Amino acid sequence: MNGPARQTVTVALGQRSYPVWIGAGLLHDHARWLAMLRGRHALVVSNTTVAPLYLPRIEAGLDGLRWASFLLDDGEAHKSFANVGRVLEALGELGATRDACVIALGGGVVGDLAGFSAACWMRGIDFIQMPTTLLAMVDSSVGGKTGVNLPVGKNLAGAFHQPRAVVADIDTLATLPGREYRAGLAEVIKGAAIGDEPFFAWLEQHAAALAAREPATVQQAIARKVAYKAGVVARDETEQGERALLNLGHTFGHALETAGHYTALLHGEGVAIGMLLAARLSERLGMSAQAATARLQRLLEAVGLPVAVPPGMDPPQLLALMRLDKKNTAGTLRLILWRGIGRAEIVAGVAEADVLAVLTEATSAP
Ligand SMILES: NC(=O)c1ccc[n+]([C@@H]2O[C@H](COP(=O)([O-])OP(=O)(O)OC[C@H]3O[C@@H](n4cnc5c(N)ncnc54)[C@H](O)[C@@H]3O)[C@@H](O)[C@H]2O)c1
Repeated sequence: MNGPARQTVTVALGQRSYPVWIGAGLLHDHARWLAMLRGRHALVVSNTTVAPLYLPRIEAGLDGLRWASFLLDDGEAHKSFANVGRVLEALGELGATRDACVIALGGGVVGDLAGFSAACWMRGIDFIQMPTTLLAMVDSSVGGKTGVNLPVGKNLAGAFHQPRAVVADIDTLATLPGREYRAGLAEVIKGAAIGDEPFFAWLEQHAAALAAREPATVQQAIARKVAYKAGVVARDETEQGERALLNLGHTFGHALETAGHYTALLHGEGVAIGMLLAARLSERLGMSAQAATARLQRLLEAVGLPVAVPPGMDPPQLLALMRLDKKNTAGTLRLILWRGIGRAEIVAGVAEADVLAVLTEATSAP
């Protein structure tokens, strides 16, 4: 085989441990992932963009099973309860038994919805993640958070339901639009910024190769981020403590995404700008040094991610959105901040005045 050797990261959860396979050509490696199916029924959930590209790669492997596919329309708007109902109906029509398997082929939207559907069918059946975006490979396919959006907010209905295996075929990244690819890199950088300084330094050294999608470097970056996340999930599966650190930049980022009506910024782009704002706030509170913020900004810029708050966003409005994002006490916020590269922590009681000052500085003309 050409290219780097495939890698396996294990998410260690006792009886529910599972492999994350990372490498080229894995969708074609039918014997590997078929071995994870317990029964004779499989429902492939994908979408109208991804299925024409990649469903043919797995179809031959499904020969001999009773299988069907269910395709969502493309987009976050389709990560809905109504579509969970349709997936459950498709499982019913297939005659899926308790040993059936749902296969999620696509990005985070498909993975979250398919996983939640698997959690609901007969109170929980197996599912396999086959992520096809960088974000899904390094983040959403690993860790068992599944769910859908409700009219009142994103990801408000869901369940923890771990997959049986994750099949991250890096060949699929070849067709991913550049902006989506870079949004995934934000999640890679986030992992390093939270808890792995040597990985952050490695990313700094390999920023150009990553931006150019050099396969061996991309694979290595995915494997290191997944290994970091797998460790956190193994220690705190249901987010009682440490797993919350993975939300570095999210409170700022969600506010930016919402202010942009979910069209101005992709989630990863919001996280990139949000991380930088969290770093600036940490600096302002005397927790971290300016040099750390500068390193983060340089790395984000080196891979082509946005670092500035989009024009026209209003600091008091952003602050109001941040208040809604988490349980906060009056006049203060609870945020993930850091003490420099690789050392994030949860900080309660952050004064709104400090948050507003950082937002105001970020939205003033340079
Ligand atoms: N469960 C978790 O822990 C977790 C973590 C982070 C994000 N999420 C969720 O993930 C979702 C975002 O995921 P995403 O960024 O993958 O978005 P996405 O699933 O919408 O995919 C992005 C776009 O890329 C297209 N696409 C996917 N793979 C492709 C490929 N190989 N080639 C060409 N086009 C391709 C999709 O059709 C879509 O248009 C959000 O709903 C978010 O809430 C979940």
